Amino acid sequence: MISLAEKRKEYQNRLVEKAKKTVIVVGMGTCGIAAGGDKVWQALENAVKNKNLDIELVYSGCIGLCYVEPIMEVHRPDMPRVIYGNVNGETALKILEEHALNGKVVSDLAVAQDPKEGKTVLPEIPILNEMPFYKKQVKTAIANCGIINPDSIEEYIAYGGYEALEKVLSSMSQTQVIEEVKKSGLRGRGGGGFPTGLKWEFAYKSPGDKKYVICNADEGDPGAFMDRSVLEGDPHAVLEGMAICGYAIGADEGYIYVRAEYPLAIKRLENAIAQAEKAGLLGENILGSGFNFKLRIKAGAGAFVCGEETALINSIEGKRGMPRVRPPFPAQSGLWNKPTNNNNVETYANIPGIIRKGADWFAGMGTEKSKGSKVFALTGKVNRTGLAEVPIGITIREIIFDIAGGIQNNKKFKAVQIGGPSGGCIPEEYLDTPVDYDSLTALGAMMGSGGLVVMDETTCMVDVARFFLNFTQKESCGKCTPCREGTKRMLEILNRICDGKGKPEDIDTLERLSNVIKSTALCGLGQSAPNPVLATLRYFRNEYEDHIHNKKCTAGVCTALLEYKIDPDKCKGCGACKKVCPVGAISGEKKEAHEIDAGKCIKCGSCIEKCKFDAIIKG
Ligand SMILES: Cc1cc2nc3c(=O)[nH]c(=O)nc-3n(C[C@H](O)[C@H](O)[C@H](O)COP(=O)(O)O)c2cc1C
Ligand code: SF4
Ligand code: SF4
Ligand code: SF4
Ligand code: FES
Repeated sequence: MISLAEKRKEYQNRLVEKAKKTVIVVGMGTCGIAAGGDKVWQALENAVKNKNLDIELVYSGCIGLCYVEPIMEVHRPDMPRVIYGNVNGETALKILEEHALNGKVVSDLAVAQDPKEGKTVLPEIPILNEMPFYKKQVKTAIANCGIINPDSIEEYIAYGGYEALEKVLSSMSQTQVIEEVKKSGLRGRGGGGFPTGLKWEFAYKSPGDKKYVICNADEGDPGAFMDRSVLEGDPHAVLEGMAICGYAIGADEGYIYVRAEYPLAIKRLENAIAQAEKAGLLGENILGSGFNFKLRIKAGAGAFVCGEETALINSIEGKRGMPRVRPPFPAQSGLWNKPTNNNNVETYANIPGIIRKGADWFAGMGTEKSKGSKVFALTGKVNRTGLAEVPIGITIREIIFDIAGGIQNNKKFKAVQIGGPSGGCIPEEYLDTPVDYDSLTALGAMMGSGGLVVMDETTCMVDVARFFLNFTQKESCGKCTPCREGTKRMLEILNRICDGKGKPEDIDTLERLSNVIKSTALCGLGQSAPNPVLATLRYFRNEYEDHIHNKKCTAGVCTALLEYKIDPDKCKGCGACKKVCPVGAISGEKKEAHEIDAGKCIKCGSCIEKCKFDAIIKG
């Protein structure tokens, strides 16, 4: 067999050579680009070219600090690496001039420093690994994200990439690979948490000379961007994980099903596949081992139900994306009725590390029944939004308050939605629950794929339930009646409650319908669609009751239930509100308390934003 060792050494040497030069890295994941990373890149590229500077300009995927994007880093050979945040074209040029060329750190834009041989730059700049955002994190699945150039197979190999594939092909039998994955305790990161090694064993044992490997990169949950970040930041890790799976189950072909709304992920995957084929790491006779494995990308049209594995299989086959009845499971009869193994992006990204460092290393993290680490996308009302990988078993409080920095604008935490539209919300009293598959399910939420949406006191939980149900109802494929009709009826009830027309029997009806849909729907979409309603009913029933019986939305969200009033004691009669009211509902003389005519008011909220004296009350 051909060994990669020499090539790896050569690529590592190239990195050592590169480190002798000044390197500037720009964060160019989708969130980085959306925040203006491409403009930063453009400004730097022009400057480097026009002035013919001896500086290497490279890009990386997401390093997780999305809350300070656009990000750029300066690596000078004589100084520790410094990460800058919230940069723009102009400040990037200042950093280039002062730091990259003249060794003077621009301290007001520096977010972190990474000490080099124990040396730091300025004491006031936080140390990267000691920052509250990073301190409790571990990096396994996203270890390379933001570190390597995702378009360079050489860098991936230099960082130990494809060593696991080489190990498997040169020294492990199919069953040894499966046993190692089983021993690691890895459970599927796509939502259900099914043991990965066991799944591989089913596909391995299924008779047939043609088998397939699928990677589910559909990622349709609102608020989730973990898989996209992995694909954009370290695509080779997923390819390597899939190739190892192919070897283990006896497949020679695989598909990556990725939504078309992820064009950058698709581009980086295409490039990675082409590079791996050229390097003999995909395709025919990989590394001279006799193992063949070909990968293709299938772009999905963005239907949430196509993330369900049997609908996804139909979609790859060119059929309408509707779930199939199970059994048979894909391991027995999947793509083109052949034994098929489907795993999530993050599941595959964990495989090279498990094979390289050993199952015990991976199983050393996490809890008894949920091993390893999990990547979460932190969104909503937190101070630090971003991508975080944490050891399973960490508490929800640690993620929200230590890593994500707590709630914006000193507002009060209300709930966190974990598991997207299939999951549920968790209130304050359960913040100390460990994040693992079983504890979250016991609370009526679920680990899901890793979307974590944090809500504060200004969120109405009935409205949240309505938002998620509206999503699942629209995404229902319509194949089975309980989901197609049941979610529609539930949505009608929720709309009615939010419109102030709720009936006393609505809560019972919602619960009854939820239970029927959960137990009779054909696929996971319908079976889990009522979860957000059941969880909000479990923890915030009083809000439903307030809406129905008292016609009140205490969070002040449901427009139909709001009333705008002016507090005469606070009103200074400045007239600012009167000027912006689009329907002339406000009256009052200058310097005298004003009044709102509730009959005319259309509850647009413009007046409340204008009043500098907090005299307008919404409730
Ligand atoms: C409506 C619906 C959407 C889903 N979306 C995804 C998805 O986007 N990504 C994913 O990996 N799994 C998704 N799943 C779960 C898959 O059906 C499947 O369980 C998963 O891909 C298995 O991979 P794992 O064992 O690595 O978790 C979805 C399930 C349902 C019911
Ligand atoms: S549960 Fe909903 S999404 Fe799933 S098959 Fe039935 S109608 Fe389609
Ligand atoms: S909420 Fe809108 S319509 Fe009502 S009083 Fe204020 S500005 Fe006028
Ligand atoms: S803006 Fe505020 S203080 Fe001014 S008139 Fe309106 S309610 Fe009164
Ligand atoms: S996209 Fe750059 S840090 Fe997340």
